[in-house]
Amino acid sequence: MESGPCKEVIIGEKDLDLLSFPIPIWTPEKDAGPYLTPLWVTKDPETGARDIGIRRCQVKGRNKTGILFGAPDRYGAVHHARWKELGKPMPAAIFMGVDPVIYLTGPSRFGIDELAVAGGIREKPVELVRCETCDLEVPANAEIVVEGEVSTDYVEPEGPFGEFTGFMAGGRECPVFTAKCITHRKDPILLGLISQFPPSESSMIKRNLLEAALFKHLTADLHIPGITDIHALEAGGCTAILWMSIKKMHAGHVDQLVFGVMGYFGMSYYKWIVVTDEDVDIRDPFMRDWVLSWLVRPEKDMRIIPNTAAIELDPSAMPPTEIFREPMGAKVIIDATKKWEYPAISLPPRESLEQVIKNWNRYELPPLRDVRIPKGA
Ligand SMILES: Cc1cc2nc3c(=O)[nH]c(=O)nc-3n(C[C@H](O)[C@H](O)[C@H](O)COP(=O)(O)O)c2cc1C
Repeated sequence: MESGPCKEVIIGEKDLDLLSFPIPIWTPEKDAGPYLTPLWVTKDPETGARDIGIRRCQVKGRNKTGILFGAPDRYGAVHHARWKELGKPMPAAIFMGVDPVIYLTGPSRFGIDELAVAGGIREKPVELVRCETCDLEVPANAEIVVEGEVSTDYVEPEGPFGEFTGFMAGGRECPVFTAKCITHRKDPILLGLISQFPPSESSMIKRNLLEAALFKHLTADLHIPGITDIHALEAGGCTAILWMSIKKMHAGHVDQLVFGVMGYFGMSYYKWIVVTDEDVDIRDPFMRDWVLSWLVRPEKDMRIIPNTAAIELDPSAMPPTEIFREPMGAKVIIDATKKWEYPAISLPPRESLEQVIKNWNRYELPPLRDVRIPKGA
């Protein structure tokens, strides 16, 4: 598009002031200052491939913010490394207040244009406009766009900020973003995301996109059969604990699945990966505890893989005093599938249980809560 609602107001380099927006302090008395939680767009300088990602953005002055690259393998961080090799700052734009589908697809690692995926979900291309000061495109309907560049030859401390792990995180030396132009709608709405102690909007976004992206990767790309469900737990910010259920077909099936997951994230995401049988409802916390209780023989069914990349911002990976090192950690794989035929479930037949539930109101007892009939009963 030639132009769009996000360009109703255009403010040049000399007049712009990020602090004129009502930017929240999300964790009062603990955050280093006001933070935006925008979508960032960058391009690979060689291929021109676009990346969208959500990254925390500490507003440090009228035209200056921080940017935190949590892990070096993310496309945005890779773009930054490529611009650095060229000895040039990285052109970047942040945008806020777009179709929620773009917030759900943007932080993914599909390896393809996230705006195209958003368009695919909506069955309508995302309308884009070119930035005023750089060769980047942003959604035409955005409420607010800030164009500028990220330093590649200069870093300074960033944070702390209340993070998805449930802890404060900060103190890394990070690049800075210098704003060169702001465009916005008339009377724009500043959209932010709650991304502190889970559950939060951050963990909800990650749950939806990571479960879907992993399912696609494992089934459509790696052609692993038998997967019935994949569930990332919000208590772990959806990056620490992953449960999967499969119809196990051969001895290496569980490993095939687990290593497919770990390879997808440069060995960083998921400290705990549990695989169980297809008839377990892995979205039910009670059933997860039941499975760990009776389907796992720890010395045989649990394995630790030491010295892998740690999950970004995992506070157990290293003390905050060592923050400038790339964190290392370990993975625990739990094979919670049945290794032989188990005895029958110790419940009356399903039909009897269903009849009791159906007639419950007649028994003059307190209402039933959390009723579950395990599969296999
Ligand atoms: C609310 C929210 C905040 C996030 N903040 C950051 C961040 O500050 N730094 C970061 O590296 N990743 C952050 N992420 C994760 C990235 O958005 C995600 O890893 C990234 O977009 C995917 O990488 P890509 O650069 O390969 O597309 C955040 C995700 C969400 C949902």
